[in-house]
Amino acid sequence: MTTDTQPAPLRVLVFGAALRAGSVNARLASLVARLFAESGADVDHARMRDFPMPMYDGDVEDAEGPPRGALALRDRLEWCDAFAISSPEYNASVPGVLKNAIDWVSRIQPQPFKTKYALLVSASPSMVGGNRGLWALRVPLEHLGTRVYPDMFSLASAYDQFAEDGRLANPGLQERLAETVSAFVHLVEADVRYVCLQRRWYEFLGDRTEAPVTQRAEG
Ligand SMILES: Cc1cc2nc3c(=O)[nH]c(=O)nc-3n(C[C@H](O)[C@H](O)[C@H](O)COP(=O)(O)O)c2cc1C
Repeated sequence: MTTDTQPAPLRVLVFGAALRAGSVNARLASLVARLFAESGADVDHARMRDFPMPMYDGDVEDAEGPPRGALALRDRLEWCDAFAISSPEYNASVPGVLKNAIDWVSRIQPQPFKTKYALLVSASPSMVGGNRGLWALRVPLEHLGTRVYPDMFSLASAYDQFAEDGRLANPGLQERLAETVSAFVHLVEADVRYVCLQRRWYEFLGDRTEAPVTQRAEG
C-alpha cells in the first residue's frame, strides 16, 4: 500500500553563541540556518541575546528558579528535533556565556538536551577556526545525552571568508559545509522517523528507556 503523506519537516534550532553584534559566528549561524532551510527543515534562528541570564548561582536558583533566558532556551530546545551551535573558541575552550547557558538549562526538568541531536560549527580569525572549542563543547552536551554529530565544521581566517550574499567565498568550503549540514539532516531524519534506529548512536549509562541498558564497552 502506498501513501502520499509527507513526513513532517525536521525542526532545527540554530544559534550563534557570541553576544556581540558583529559576531562572525552569528554570520556562520545565519548561513547554517539557510542551509538547513534549503534541506527542507523548519528553522528557528535564534541569537544568544535572546537568552539573557546571570551567572549560575545555586542560591538564586533556590530562591527564584531558573531565569527567564534559561526558560526561553529550554522552550526553544523543546520545540526542535535538533540544534546547531556556531560557537567562538575562547582560550581553546567553550565561551563562558554558552557554558553558563548550558549549566542553567541542565537544571530544568525534564532536561531538554537529552533527547536532541546537535551539529557543532565554529568560526575564528585563527588558522584552526575554533575547532578546539568545539571538542570542549562536546563534553557537556554528550554528558547531558545529546547525540552530537561526529563531523564538525570550523571556519579558519573567518573574517575574510564570507561573500556579500552571506555564503562562503571559497566554493570548496561552501560545498563542504553544505554537505555536512545535509548529511546531518539525513541522519537525524532517519533517527527521528524510524525510532528503532535511535539506539544506534549510543546508549549511555543511566539512560532509563524501556530497552535494557548495555555497557558502552560491549559494543
Ligand atoms: C577571551 C577571548 C579568548 C579568545 N581565545 C581564542 C582562542 O583560543 N582561539 C581562537 O581562535 N580565537 C580566540 N579568540 C578570538 C576569537 O576567535 C575572535 O574574537 C572571534 O571573532 C570571536 O567570535 P565572534 O566574532 O563570533 O564574536 C578569543 C577572543 C576572546 C575575547
